[in-house]
Amino acid sequence: MHLLTLKDWSSEEVRELIDSSLDIKKNPEDYEFSLEGKSLAMIFQKTSTRTRLSFEVGMTQMGGHAVYMDWMTTNLVLSDLRDEVRSISGYVDGVMARVLKNSDLRIMAEASSVPVINGCDEKYHPCQIIADLVTMKEKKGRLDGLKVAYVGVHNNVCNSLIVGCTKAGVRIVTVTPVVNEASFDEGLVEAAKATGLYEHSLDVEAAVEGCDVVYTDTWVDMEFFLDSKFEKEKEKRVKAMLPFQINRKLLGDSDALIMHDMPIHRGYEIADDMVEGANSVIFVQSENRLHSAKAVLLKLLR
Ligand code: CP
Repeated sequence: MHLLTLKDWSSEEVRELIDSSLDIKKNPEDYEFSLEGKSLAMIFQKTSTRTRLSFEVGMTQMGGHAVYMDWMTTNLVLSDLRDEVRSISGYVDGVMARVLKNSDLRIMAEASSVPVINGCDEKYHPCQIIADLVTMKEKKGRLDGLKVAYVGVHNNVCNSLIVGCTKAGVRIVTVTPVVNEASFDEGLVEAAKATGLYEHSLDVEAAVEGCDVVYTDTWVDMEFFLDSKFEKEKEKRVKAMLPFQINRKLLGDSDALIMHDMPIHRGYEIADDMVEGANSVIFVQSENRLHSAKAVLLKLLR
């Protein structure tokens, strides 16, 4: 079993993972030796803070071991991906990979003899969304019937949030005036619409009205953030997206939880006072990456 996208997991499996994460958070000592003797290869083509830390620290805290593998300093950079991953999977009990292309992740899953976990690609970010749903359940005491407004670019996080919410019984409205074409998955959107829990709108005031959670994300994917070739597109996005910034003017006296998967760009997708405000659960959400990574590891490696 792999975790490439939440589309492949049933509602029951998603809900189990959320409950398991909450139990691990509450009783970490019960899991101290759960992965004793197990090893995880962590392959990164892109930068990361939370994904690397959550899986590496998660393995250590459960008695296992994680090996960080930078794409550029391993022979992944110069050899056939299938051969390298087949070889890597002979050493470890699981592979977690952050790659530029979902197609590479699928090749890795085919070649690997052990479970492969998606640590974020251009289409999906399933591990992030498990942590997000854990945070919602922890803070609200339930998931069924909650309403989430995602305001931002339609990207990989947006895709996985749509799937995760609809599988967990959460209503979601997306306000996404800009679509990241590389991320778009029409089948995912159509399947979500069919659940009756998902809608799209460009009326941001109406979307955030009465919702339980307001969620945003970066307007520019990490691999393009410092890329001078992307500068024009970045300027275009900032212009199009600034009217959709999460700020006090938009939210008024709303008591919705404020969520962001990080890294944050204050003054762009979200105003500084929203990050620091009483309703912000951004740093709890970030910490929950650790507990939910442990739940994913337990499910797939044990
Ligand atoms: N949210 C998230 O995946 O964080 P990193 O990119 O730092 O891993």
